[in-house]
Amino acid sequence: MSPDNLDKWVEEIQKEIIDEEIKRYNKYIVELLLNPKNWGKPKDDEISVLHAYEGSCGDTMQFFLKINEGIIEKANFITDGCGATVAAGSQTTMMVEGHTLEFAERLRPIDVENALGGLPDDHKHCAELAMRTLHRAIEKYKIQSS
Ligand code: FES
Repeated sequence: MSPDNLDKWVEEIQKEIIDEEIKRYNKYIVELLLNPKNWGKPKDDEISVLHAYEGSCGDTMQFFLKINEGIIEKANFITDGCGATVAAGSQTTMMVEGHTLEFAERLRPIDVENALGGLPDDHKHCAELAMRTLHRAIEKYKIQSS
């Protein structure tokens, strides 16, 4: 196979994989999966609290929050979980940035799922992993700062 044909073949395979993922989830989730928002550990001086949590499936997520006077100024995450988890982590960080701790504490997995346009039954727990990690991080922050 010539290099040009090889490139074309790889492109077609990638497109097939993305199309399958869109069928399984939806276009918005796949966009977040390919370009996650707020991914990665920030610099230490931009972290007020970090917390790692293991979900029911064994995948883990870690949240990094910068909190100032009760406001989540910055939220970042990393995960070793599935594509839905990457999307759920991204969506959760976007939903809480600029909001109060109380607002974040009131959020439920269904809020993240709705914002993502729905999750398949076997991936609903991925939104739960994001939400539990967030809530545990906030609990930890409150204990640290009391
Ligand atoms: Fe484990 Fe999504 S978090 S499958």
